[in-house]
Amino acid sequence: MQNTPNTSISVFGLGYVGLVTALSFAEMGFDVIGCDVDAEKIRRLKNREIPFFEPGLKNLLDENLSNERIQFTDIYEHAVRNSSVLMICVGTPLNEKFEADVSQVESVLTAIAQHINGFKSVVIKSTVPVGTSRRADQIIRAANPTCDIEVASNPEFLREGSAIEDTMKPSRVIVGCDHPRTTDILRRIYEPFLKNGNPFIVMSPESSEMSKYAANCMLALRISYMNQLSQLCERTNADIEEVRKGIGSDPRIGPHFIYAGVGYGGSCFPKDTRAFSEWAKSLDVNLSLVSQTIEANNNQREKVLGRILKNMTPEPCTISFWGVAFKAGTDDIREAPSIYFAQELLRMGYRVQVFDPLANDAFKKYFSGNKELQVYSNQYEATEGSSLLVVLTEHKSFRTPNFQKLQSAMKKYQIFDGRNVYNPQIIQEAGFDYHGVGRSI
Ligand code: UGA
Repeated sequence: MQNTPNTSISVFGLGYVGLVTALSFAEMGFDVIGCDVDAEKIRRLKNREIPFFEPGLKNLLDENLSNERIQFTDIYEHAVRNSSVLMICVGTPLNEKFEADVSQVESVLTAIAQHINGFKSVVIKSTVPVGTSRRADQIIRAANPTCDIEVASNPEFLREGSAIEDTMKPSRVIVGCDHPRTTDILRRIYEPFLKNGNPFIVMSPESSEMSKYAANCMLALRISYMNQLSQLCERTNADIEEVRKGIGSDPRIGPHFIYAGVGYGGSCFPKDTRAFSEWAKSLDVNLSLVSQTIEANNNQREKVLGRILKNMTPEPCTISFWGVAFKAGTDDIREAPSIYFAQELLRMGYRVQVFDPLANDAFKKYFSGNKELQVYSNQYEATEGSSLLVVLTEHKSFRTPNFQKLQSAMKKYQIFDGRNVYNPQIIQEAGFDYHGVGRSI
């Protein structure tokens, strides 16, 4: 099957999902228009500045601006009129009732209804409550009864830090659509991304919307289960890392998303677990496994804090963090466990010194004005005078510490390994007290 030669794609909302999607389609040879209401973001993108760190993104931006396959605009009319596939990638943050707020999606739908010219496939990639795609169709038709549109749900499964790889070689593309024409258009535009033979799965819009939440909640559930097991391991001689290998080698379980640690964070799992369980309640369904996943995640943070404090003297001293991003390879600190630990330790009177190869600026901004929290541009300087080094993110540069540098900087030689990145024996042989997650040491 060939690419449809003149399919042009507009992407609405240039956050993580939108910008990566827009640039990935441009990279595959499509003409793409990226549209966002934030005029300053558009100005910066045109100026080749990326709004957040993501490996490989800057190169894609440079390349596709140079070859004119991508253009950026804050004018909805331009983006609606000049493409036949309109992808909605705006945010759906939680509202005060912990439901997904779809007002940004609705704004885009209103703009589409207003400016529509000819046939359009409207593709919802934002994470939205089940039923939104069908409602989107009604919203556009109510505003413009004669328009020629077809709506599809097409959830995104990219991960921060490997977003381009995930988009270029998706494990699957899910399309929830009742319309053969739009299904066929989407099959064609995704064809170059599925050369590896991974599946293009067609289903109802409701099943597709549900699949997105179901996937994130299942992954979060696996992590919470491992975190709970890690607490059990700490009370016995079992080691969660050995248990992980023991169970992950069962093909029915598999090795992914079973790493115990300081609790999951980020812009997706915390939001989606909450939104999904709240939405289920509204249908009188008790998704107790998902609500307990959330509870277990909060509990893991508290338990880890307890273990960090266990070996500290009662009088406050300095504690260092290596890594504050919610995971490796990103500068994102949204819902990062590091924020909770820093807030709690500062509240108790400790001084906190921090280094992260990517997220220093974001963390500094978050805690700006607090003199007891200092951010350092060198990982060893961040341990100067410190009584405990806490590893919170599994960035590569933390994996092989220079112990001499640590010993000349630190006041006490203690490491708390919140991601189990170290072999405890190596740390102990280097003269440090070692404590990890789910290990009785
Ligand atoms: C997650 C999903 O993995 C993506 O498939 C999805 O598209 C995305 O949410 C989204 O909904 O937009 P992301 O939030 O980028 O992606 O990060 P993950 O790699 O899933 O990690 C989430 C959190 O779980 C991190 O804090 C990470 O450290 C933690 N984690 C992950 C663990 O504690 N243990 C694990 O074994 C894996």
